Amino acid sequence: MTTRSILAGCGAYLPDRVIDNNELAKLVDTSDDWIKQRTGIEKRHVVADGELTSDLAVKAADRALSKANIAANDIDLIIVATTTPDRTFPATATKVQADLGIMSGAAFDIQAVCAGFVYAMSVADNLLRAGQSRKALVIGAETFTRLLDWTDRGTCVLFGDGAGAIILDSHEIEPSAKQYGVLSTHLHSDGRYRDILYVDGGPSMNSKAGYVRMSGKEVFRHAVSKLGSVINEALVANNLSSNDIDWLVPHQANKRIIESMAKKLNMPMDKVICSIDHHANTSAASVPLALTEGVSDGRIVDGDLVLFEAIGGGLAWGAGLVRMGYPE
Ligand code: ACO
Repeated sequence: MTTRSILAGCGAYLPDRVIDNNELAKLVDTSDDWIKQRTGIEKRHVVADGELTSDLAVKAADRALSKANIAANDIDLIIVATTTPDRTFPATATKVQADLGIMSGAAFDIQAVCAGFVYAMSVADNLLRAGQSRKALVIGAETFTRLLDWTDRGTCVLFGDGAGAIILDSHEIEPSAKQYGVLSTHLHSDGRYRDILYVDGGPSMNSKAGYVRMSGKEVFRHAVSKLGSVINEALVANNLSSNDIDWLVPHQANKRIIESMAKKLNMPMDKVICSIDHHANTSAASVPLALTEGVSDGRIVDGDLVLFEAIGGGLAWGAGLVRMGYPE
């Protein structure tokens, strides 16, 4: 028998307040047409005053637990991927743990910006496979709009707030059985590119949260090439071809980046979950938000092979392959 991390359920939450492109055009020199054409974004959700990353995370987690039919108390590992923690410390994951009434196991945050969810899923999968944890709650949650300079049209139109969560359940399966759960994850980073996408503040630098700064064209170029190569790495590692993939669930940063990944995979766009139009780039939350949308509306079903990918500041990027549901 071999241990696999089964994706037992997922859930998501978006804050109530919605800002569409026309509303943004009153703040900065932009237009609905420009934003839609260059990014595919039509609107984004924004947190209310006093609403924290942990609040979004707990709501997404509650939904994921209920879909997985797993009691909060059975969770022994919580990883929150976030760039916008409630506080510099303690980890937002510990607040989520307390809010869910969980008093044992480990809870910590992971910071890999937009790639954070794929990183967190990888770490959780490895802890489950090693037998150190049995049931993991993996969350991507962001109040990313708190890091926006609302006078910079090059960045403020791109991002939104939200959270998504999955439950990974350690399960013993026959090695010869059809492979279910997390098949593999692939992580990369290259700090030489840290200055093309960053925040100009931090506790050690100036005690300020800071604002997002980005060379959009550079990021775009790296995203297309690095995501293409990590997708290929994931397929080769599992001896699969793009024809075997049922769904691409990509990071929702820019519709043009998503389309170019679909093209590389030779996949029609109706096999790609693209939700960027209504929530913009939610950083670490984007992949589990898109996954939850695909599962909730019945497109992604048990047995489907799903390919996740994401890239963000660092640069940090990664991919993961997951077969949905428990083995028959
Ligand atoms: N509205 C109107 N005009 C704008 C806006 C805006 N919101 N933002 C920039 N412009 C202008 C620029 O000033 C420039 O004007 P100029 O030619 O007079 O100098 C013009 O539009 C073209 O700007 P570019 O930056 O060349 O536009 P580009 O086609 O590259 O699109 C964009 C910009 C959308 C940011 C694109 O580069 C992109 O999506 N890059 C990827 C970055 C990304 O996704 N970052 C998210 C975080 S990282 C991640 O998640 C992968």
